[in-house]
Amino acid sequence: MLKLINFENYPDMCKKAASIIAAQIIMKENSVLGLATGSTPIGIYELLSEWCAKGDLDFSRIRTVNLDEYCGLSAAHDQSYRYFMNKHLFDNVNIDKVNTHVPNGLAQDAEREGAKYDELIELLGGIDLQLLGIGHNGHIGFNEPSDFFVSGTHCAKLTQETINANVRFFDDLSQVPKTAVTMGMRSIMNARKILLVANGDKKKDIIQKAINGPVTPKVPASILQLHPDVTILYSIA
Ligand code: GLP
Repeated sequence: MLKLINFENYPDMCKKAASIIAAQIIMKENSVLGLATGSTPIGIYELLSEWCAKGDLDFSRIRTVNLDEYCGLSAAHDQSYRYFMNKHLFDNVNIDKVNTHVPNGLAQDAEREGAKYDELIELLGGIDLQLLGIGHNGHIGFNEPSDFFVSGTHCAKLTQETINANVRFFDDLSQVPKTAVTMGMRSIMNARKILLVANGDKKKDIIQKAINGPVTPKVPASILQLHPDVTILYSIA
């Protein structure tokens, strides 16, 4: 079942998203959280960091698996998703970094690395709550529009649209990675709960397509219509 909740502004949306994640942590202290990057989750991670600093949230037994990582960027690169996660969440909460997992963007054998990542998720007992953003073309993680849904963690070729959208984080277009390792649809769809967050006018159409359009790999997020427990938080501003 898919539930859409609309918000007037980004801070309200973040408060709701952070509350849902906090409830999950309180309900199950060793939850496996699937985490996302992009600009949208930043306000959510800020709130979770604040609540943890105040002593209202305990991340000490939490395990995390991130959706994706750029190929070719080391963890120390300031645009890598590992760096992003450390900066916006892991460094600010009492999580044990050993329990935080981000795909390895430097892996030589992407297929083997992908299989290993999927095994890890299974070993952890699967994802309790998966946080997702959405790209302008409907991608989730880095599952780009395609002729078929890819099941396992894999190396994805980024579309020009995604590369253009991500140039804002780099010095110029030539610096933007062209490929990324991303969790596939199996791990995402096997998450027990999914929370998708999006904000801004520009995401309005794609959210509508994902919710009400046909389920098609041309709009990767449309697969969520087939999941039993999805909440979408959308804020117009
Ligand atoms: C990147 C990430 C996605 C994210 C998307 C949207 O492409 N791989 O996981 O959902 O950005 O980013 P933003 O929230 O900045 O619009």
